[in-house]
Amino acid sequence: MKNLNICIAGLGNVGSAVVGLIDKNSQYIKNKSNLTINIIGLSAKNRDKERNFNVRDYKWIENPIDLLNINDLKPDILIELIGYEKGVSYELVKTALSQKIHVVTGNKAMLAMYGQELFRIAEQNQVSLLFEAAVAGGIPIIKTLKNNIFLNKVKKISGILNGTTNYILTTMETQNKSFEDVLHDAKKRGFTSDNESKLDIGGYDAAHKLTLLSTIAFGVNVDFNLNKVEGIEKITIEDINFVKHLGFRIKLISESFLINDMICSSTKPKLIPLDKPMANVDGALNAINVETDQLENLYLEGEGAGGLATASSILSDIFEISNNSKFTSIGYNINDLKKYQKFDSSNLESKFYLRIRVKDQPGVLSKITTYLNDSNISVEKILQTPDKKENNIPILIITHKIKTSELLNSVNKISDLEFVNENISIIPIE
Ligand SMILES: NC(=O)c1ccc[n+]([C@@H]2O[C@H](COP(=O)([O-])OP(=O)(O)OC[C@H]3O[C@@H](n4cnc5c(N)ncnc54)[C@H](OP(=O)(O)O)[C@@H]3O)[C@@H](O)[C@H]2O)c1
Repeated sequence: MKNLNICIAGLGNVGSAVVGLIDKNSQYIKNKSNLTINIIGLSAKNRDKERNFNVRDYKWIENPIDLLNINDLKPDILIELIGYEKGVSYELVKTALSQKIHVVTGNKAMLAMYGQELFRIAEQNQVSLLFEAAVAGGIPIIKTLKNNIFLNKVKKISGILNGTTNYILTTMETQNKSFEDVLHDAKKRGFTSDNESKLDIGGYDAAHKLTLLSTIAFGVNVDFNLNKVEGIEKITIEDINFVKHLGFRIKLISESFLINDMICSSTKPKLIPLDKPMANVDGALNAINVETDQLENLYLEGEGAGGLATASSILSDIFEISNNSKFTSIGYNINDLKKYQKFDSSNLESKFYLRIRVKDQPGVLSKITTYLNDSNISVEKILQTPDKKENNIPILIITHKIKTSELLNSVNKISDLEFVNENISIIPIE
């Protein structure tokens, strides 16, 4: 039987769920893993806040940093669930690792920015800094890459890594509502806040997670600047409906792969064919696909957020620490991580969907086709839909494969034509 003393900083959605799970399942955990988990201290901002467990059953520590020494008792593991890129969580994690205390965290923002430094401190002190909860909540993608398929060479990793944006895109479609209306509903229902929504909607939260996946999958330095990031702010209900008729759904896709000895990591909206599983990931779910030299497609889908789902990943990290004698946090020695150059994704070829709103007048379609032909952009499909709005009609185009940079040259010229009335929607196709 092994005894682990843990302390928890942050008792919000995830922290409270972790306390509740350990409290309710202590006997089950003992039976299954020979492990007794003792919570020796808790800390959050406000002791009197109502929580889903009785705070008075535990030792309350006012300042989270004091969790690392409670009456001369040092915890085996600090669970950091406060959040924020820097500030109290960063100081706490850094201090804990320096004092040879293992850390389990769900904080992707902190790790994407300061992971390289923090993983090094963990390695130097021979402790773990584990973060299964930081990527895709309850989906065990970190351990899958680090442990289960660690002898595979990963070719590409891609997925839907942010539940809020997926909820918004799905709800826009099912309820035929605008982006602004659904975002407003999502905030009212507590799915996201003003602060969080900037990270979610702008694609940054997904890119934080992709940064960590790239490190584990390819041995790339932890470097957020390697990402190209675009959010879902410009996606309209009009585009969602049009692309559905064309056999696609719009999803915020994060993907990373090596090309010409460089890394290409991007998070951006893409059209996914309806017959692909990723197109049918609904609501706040997440999904990840891994292609390796040995596995054509390893597909994982599940709850990417939520207290209980994320707490499940925290428990799995606690178990890993209880079992592990080597304590590698990322599956690589930090000095073996490689500094890759960023591949400019505008040099990648892709098919594209374009939506151009034009004045309803004769000759428009042929002028646009001429412009595209002149730029050597071949068109797979072109449609003029009857969806008239104040004498404007939309023209929908699916191109054949072309480099983004070449397409943008031509689209900029088309935008300047006097009969084009709105910004042109451009979305790459998977
Ligand atoms: N929620 C999810 O589904 C999810 C999924 C994956 C990963 N994560 C990550 O897990 C972490 C926690 O997320 P969460 O949703 O549980 O956050 P949350 O509900 O906002 O909880 C944050 C907790 O931190 C405490 N806190 C804030 N500032 C503090 C300070 N200066 N000193 C001490 N405590 C402080 C808060 O105290 P009070 O309660 O007293 O206000 C609260 O208990 C974040 O890094 C998040 O990105 C969350």
